[in-house]
Amino acid sequence: MIAAPLVALVLAGIAAASPAVPPQPKAKNPQCNFWANVRDRFINEIFLGVCAQDVHSMVRISFHDAIGFSLHSEKGGGADGSMIKFQDVELKFPANEGVDFIVSFLQPFADDLGISYGDAIMFGTAVGMSLCPGAPRLPAFVGRPDATRAAPDKTVPEPQDDLTTIFARMADAGFTPTELVHLLASHSMASQAGVDPSPDLLGAPFDSTPFDFDSQVFLEVMLRANSFPAGGSGPNLGEDMSPLPGEFRLLSDRLFARDSRTSCAWQENALNQTAMASNFAAAFKKLSLLGQNQAKLLDCSELIGTPPPAKNKQAFFPAGTNHDLIEQACATQLFPTTLSTVAGRATPIPVVQLQDCPTCPTFKRRA
Ligand code: HEM
Ligand SMILES: *[C@@H]1O[C@H](CO)[C@@H](O)[C@H](O)[C@H]1NC(C)=O
Repeated sequence: MIAAPLVALVLAGIAAASPAVPPQPKAKNPQCNFWANVRDRFINEIFLGVCAQDVHSMVRISFHDAIGFSLHSEKGGGADGSMIKFQDVELKFPANEGVDFIVSFLQPFADDLGISYGDAIMFGTAVGMSLCPGAPRLPAFVGRPDATRAAPDKTVPEPQDDLTTIFARMADAGFTPTELVHLLASHSMASQAGVDPSPDLLGAPFDSTPFDFDSQVFLEVMLRANSFPAGGSGPNLGEDMSPLPGEFRLLSDRLFARDSRTSCAWQENALNQTAMASNFAAAFKKLSLLGQNQAKLLDCSELIGTPPPAKNKQAFFPAGTNHDLIEQACATQLFPTTLSTVAGRATPIPVVQLQDCPTCPTFKRRA
């Protein structure tokens, strides 16, 4: 849990400047008109026009909501918004630590618009990702009915779980280890607050470019590491040593990059950003439809804008690192020596700041 005074302190430092949001596509299908307004309100009121903390939180809640699903037993209704509707149950699960923050924004927002929580999560995530450099355009289906039940505990993998357990849980929901790696491109725009709750590590990012959907996380997790982040209390459960000052590495991510079941898919994502983006879009579409009947939903993907291009076409070695630090695991392809290396000494990567929601005074913050 983040202490309230700390949240206030961090929020006080947020600049309220609104960047220029590119013009958004008009609805061709008249049934999507309503959703064009929802989109614009998401951009202006929740995301404040930028790919930052609130987009990150949306992508995370998408996963945690949708993965409450099983092909073989009763584990919830999938991408149904149960994380919000049954928040009294689901937000208490340890794996959902920190998800309460975006729920406190989304619930009053969805209620105000009269949209289901499942649509708020998945449509909102597609809208949010359209602001992120390098991201794919995500499909946007709407019309999910209200959730009818809470998902049980233990549907969301945790970073201290062993990989066989994680792969089994993902398979139970219909995903292969390779598809999981594809979904983990999300950790390219991500930070932590709960694995190490130390104040200095609130928002410690998983890669050096947490506001871009790029391959850096895949490359950086492959690097040899020898210390826990300064200012933190590492080692913590689910934490691994990190290769760069200010960076945070999850134990599960280190293992995915080095396990024979996932290391080649991991390396492919490190080396090919185009493939990484299209792999993510395909796996995320599947995630967004878990427990839903696509034929009963309305496809308003035409409303989703084209994300800005990635700042760099290829992953690079951040200052202070180089190819010698790559821990090669994929047995069928060597990591190439051609990627560029930034000269100089490593500089600490800043934390990802929380975003306020100044235009929505009715949105409650958690106590
Ligand atoms: C094995 C699977 C996974 C594990 C063990 C895992 C674990 C974690 C953990 C521990 C955090 C940090 C939470 C915190 O302390 O605040 C995190 C953040 C995040 N995860 Fe995952 N994750 C997994 C898969 C996924 C998937 C499949 C997605 C989405 C498709 C996802 C999206 C995110 C995002 C966007 C964040 C950053 C949230 C933020 O910056 O506020 N994760 N994950
Ligand atoms: C990267 O992936 C894309 C899409 O899968 C593919 O068309 C392209 O050939 C790949 N590029 C390289 C350099 O392998």
